[in-house]
Amino acid sequence: MKTAADKALEFARLLCEGDSGGHDFGHVERVYRAAVDIAGKEGADVFVCALAAALHDADDRKLSPETTANKNNARRFLDQNAVPAETAERVLHIIGEVSFRGADSVTPDSIEGKVVQDADRLDAMGAVGIARCFAYGGSTGRKIYEPGEAPLTEVGAEKYYSGKTCGINHFYEKLLLLKGMMNTPSAKREAEKRHEYMLGFLNEFFRETGEKAP
Ligand code: NI
Repeated sequence: MKTAADKALEFARLLCEGDSGGHDFGHVERVYRAAVDIAGKEGADVFVCALAAALHDADDRKLSPETTANKNNARRFLDQNAVPAETAERVLHIIGEVSFRGADSVTPDSIEGKVVQDADRLDAMGAVGIARCFAYGGSTGRKIYEPGEAPLTEVGAEKYYSGKTCGINHFYEKLLLLKGMMNTPSAKREAEKRHEYMLGFLNEFFRETGEKAP
């Protein structure tokens, strides 16, 4: 029998079907698997983590800006699948905590929220993170690299969302900061590896182009 978490994954697949900017279903699936894995290692509630991971981008501002504020897609799913009210509230609360908002990012208050946030952030790092960075950049009209352009660091959510700097700058604005923002020991260990891989990529990028890191 299918669990609510399996059904949530199917629901997410339909929602992000048309995305080619790094928030496709592959992202949701990887976050789901990582969240289940980290939850097991950290002793968190695996079912809550699985549900929240499957639904974490269902109302993402990039995919569904009109439902972001009230998380209507996630609410509808939880409602229609008879997820108990207390669990549904925990899941919705976690979804509200996970996303990166520049200097306005929050640390989740539950271990389950910490696990899902770590899983989502790991997917923005390493080889997958590099691929997603440029897929997202291309889908929103950003260049791969713009010599002399300064990264937007230390900015709050509003500026972070409206800023439109090149893909390489995104490493300095977000991707290289993630290692220091991991919540759980298991995610920290994996983040170290992915961080090193990104540093190697940047070194090689600047070696090949003869440009200087910002
Ligand atoms: Ni995500």
